[in-house]
Amino acid sequence: MTDVLERLSRADPWYYTPERVKEIEPLLEKVRRLKREKRAVLLAHNYQRAEIFEVADETGDSLGLAMKAADVKDAEVIVFCGVHFMAETAKIVNPSKMVLLPDPSAGCSLADSATAPDVQERIEELRKTEPDLAVVTYVNTTAEVKALSDVCCTSGNAVSVVRSLPNKTILFIPDRNLARHVANNVPDKNIIAWDGSCYVHEQITPEAVQQMREGIPGLKVLAHPECRDDVLALADAIVSTSGMIDYARRSDAQEFLAVTECGLSDLLSIEVPDKQFYRVCKICPYMKTITLENVIESLEKLQFEITVPEEIAHRADRALRRMFEVTGRDTTPLPPNVPNE
Ligand code: 13P
Ligand code: SF4
Repeated sequence: MTDVLERLSRADPWYYTPERVKEIEPLLEKVRRLKREKRAVLLAHNYQRAEIFEVADETGDSLGLAMKAADVKDAEVIVFCGVHFMAETAKIVNPSKMVLLPDPSAGCSLADSATAPDVQERIEELRKTEPDLAVVTYVNTTAEVKALSDVCCTSGNAVSVVRSLPNKTILFIPDRNLARHVANNVPDKNIIAWDGSCYVHEQITPEAVQQMREGIPGLKVLAHPECRDDVLALADAIVSTSGMIDYARRSDAQEFLAVTECGLSDLLSIEVPDKQFYRVCKICPYMKTITLENVIESLEKLQFEITVPEEIAHRADRALRRMFEVTGRDTTPLPPNVPNE
């Protein structure tokens, strides 16, 4: 058995058969060759297809990848295997690099739930009664919305970011579930939540999680903060996608349920082979638009290039840099249900 087959079959032995992996291996080689020729690095979000992890220079959550993108120095091109807002963030934090998204239809239902004109209107309305207002924006938003914000956050640092602010009243955009999680952990702030959500996470029900819990004694439930509150109430830890990997590695437990998008369960099975991962996950169709074939086309044709108007990029960059600052310097001890911030 080749190393590639061994790793990929850990993610899904029914899909990654020896025949399928034989077809994939030349594509992987082609991506590696093109990366060298085009002086490109490939950043892949934790929800990507398992074969994309094979050619990724870095794999991570939104926070990790934004920081990696900011640090890219030697390469000329960043191929972002993820969704549009992530590639846009990479371009904002490292504007001298060419950033490519292999499929321009890789959007995000959560980012779509907050448009810049609606956000602008809400901020203006709230400022009339809340002069102390700070606008905290989850990175799952467009560059235009980030540009209207005081600071950005991700699922990996939302609690720390909000806690670091001197302001008492926070408009938290756009995910209402993450906003509630933050409000539970920072009770001294008045969190005003935007009414957005991720339709992938919203499909996961507490009944499905409870059924697994009852059937598997000792199971650790790791839930993404974009999940509904009745699902989060059943979690042992509420963490970002990379937080789940860290948790599973460090925990003494043997069996886990990753309550999030299914790519993460694939990655956990590859990265933490000595433990068992169960699934109640759902597929994000946007993340799955990225394939080895369109990565190859992207590198060959240098498509689809992400651009952000300078004025917007400048203001969005300021909100992202503030987030990096907080993430770098936050040393506050965390409550037990957010161990990996
Ligand atoms: P993470 O930052 O935890 O990887 O989450 C990104 C995302 O889009 C979750 O749906
Ligand atoms: Fe957006 Fe949800 Fe997909 Fe994450 S899982 S990229 S929030 S649609």
